[in-house]
Amino acid sequence: MDVKTVGVVGAGQMGNGIAHVFALAGYEVKLNDISAEALDRALGTIGKNLDRQVSREKITEAEKQAAMDRISTTTVLTDLGSSDLIIEAATERETVKTAIFEDLQPHLKPTTILTSNTSSISITRLASRTDRPEKFMGFHFMNPVPVMQLVELIRGIATDEETYHSLLKVVESLGKTAASAEDFPAFIVNRILMPMINEAVYTLYEGVGSVRSIDESMKLGANHPMGPLELADFIGLDTCLAIMNVLHEGLADTKYRPCPLLTKYVEAGWLGRKTHRGFYDYRGETPVPTR
Ligand code: CAA
Repeated sequence: MDVKTVGVVGAGQMGNGIAHVFALAGYEVKLNDISAEALDRALGTIGKNLDRQVSREKITEAEKQAAMDRISTTTVLTDLGSSDLIIEAATERETVKTAIFEDLQPHLKPTTILTSNTSSISITRLASRTDRPEKFMGFHFMNPVPVMQLVELIRGIATDEETYHSLLKVVESLGKTAASAEDFPAFIVNRILMPMINEAVYTLYEGVGSVRSIDESMKLGANHPMGPLELADFIGLDTCLAIMNVLHEGLADTKYRPCPLLTKYVEAGWLGRKTHRGFYDYRGETPVPTR
């Protein structure tokens, strides 16, 4: 299957990054969201991030303009029906994702590949509720999408080889690297990353270290570009908690129990950067630890 047109569902942090990299690689992109405001915001973010690449001489002004011209937006989900490839990057709730695929299905070409950017929901289960489980895959990008080299490809139990190879080619065309993961809770990256972040929260909870000392330790002692608490704020504490719950329930092992302090931050609505407060307070000039 030769992919030329791509429909991206959801214009949030992941959706706008995905639209950005596909448009820059020459694909025609239709970006959909239920909110027209979210679509405007996404175009603004994409423009800003492309400008950043222009100013660092990664791309030219003409390439930026051509990429922007390849992105169209719509609040009507079914406008994406003619796409060769659909990437669902909506809210990380199974009912939302299933409803999107159900609504889209009658409008798709028989050859369209359906994918989800889910970070932890079972691909086999999502696929089983569509009319094309053999053309369904997990397509997991990392944040920030324009910068991170990796894409996880997750085959459901029914995914066929043709679909897998089509997506491998797509990842290559984006200049990124694919890692194949089996369809088990949280796949590879989050299976390893989230317990580390959760352990950092336990380290804080038990008073072993402060927010700053934990982050400094992992940045300077393990060469991580961000400390684990700073990274948790960047990802979103609600997302971190949701993934820990998927690991805990899906693997039924107490080693994955979410730290009560992580739950408390989420209960407070302190979800990290997106709500301007998490392990750090982002409301001033520089982030200040909240504990
Ligand atoms: N769009 C385009 N370019 C961007 C960008 C964006 N949104 N954000 C940063 N950049 C570029 C910058 O232009 C810069 O480019 P050059 O190196 O070519 O000059 C480069 O990225 C570095 O940016 P900065 O110098 O501004 O900042 P930094 O050095 O502090 O790096 C970072 C920022 C890349 C985010 C770095 O801190 C990092 O790698 N952090 C860890 C990110 C990470 O672990 N992500 C995975 C999260 S897990 C996940 O996503 C899976 C999940 O399901 C939860």
